[in-house]
Amino acid sequence: MKLLQIIPAAAIMIIAASCGGDNTTGKNPYQTGESASAATQSGESIYKTNCASCHMAGGEGIEKVYPPLAKSDYLADRKRAITQIIKGSSGEIVVNGQTYNNTMPPQQLDDAQIAAVLTYVYTNMGNTGTAVTAEEVKAVRASL
Ligand code: HEC
Repeated sequence: MKLLQIIPAAAIMIIAASCGGDNTTGKNPYQTGESASAATQSGESIYKTNCASCHMAGGEGIEKVYPPLAKSDYLADRKRAITQIIKGSSGEIVVNGQTYNNTMPPQQLDDAQIAAVLTYVYTNMGNTGTAVTAEEVKAVRASL
């Protein structure tokens, strides 16, 4: 298997060398948008690790079991949404007119992580909210 990979690679090197072409297969120096969306990216990775198992990758949830985050009317109250992440909940909850009665465990995330993951939720999944800041989370946590 290894040999099969080496032979074509060697052949390409020989061809490249015989053509005298300069090797311009280096990495793209442009890192388009990488730093611009750093907060969103880490929010996305936090989401995938901590939330997607229940709320699903696109936030669609599972009917009657896990409520959706996609286009969720529950998110209109930001303080309530932040509290949900910090404390979790159990019992009846109504999201987009559908009743759920289940348990979400409190999430062991710090203020910046909660801000990042909620920013990801609020600005994706068909939601039209704005970014959540760590200060906002801190203030809610202090009020609980
Ligand atoms: C173990 C499964 C599970 C995990 C993990 C989980 N949730 Fe939940 N979540 C639920 C359940 C179940 C409810 C409804 C709880 C109830 O019935 O009281 C809920 C409710 C919510 C709500 C309020 C209702 C809505 O749909 O808008 C939000 C917001 C939310 N979760 C966000 C998150 C975020 C963000 C994460 C990751 C940081 C997360 N959840 C992780 C199961 C989970």
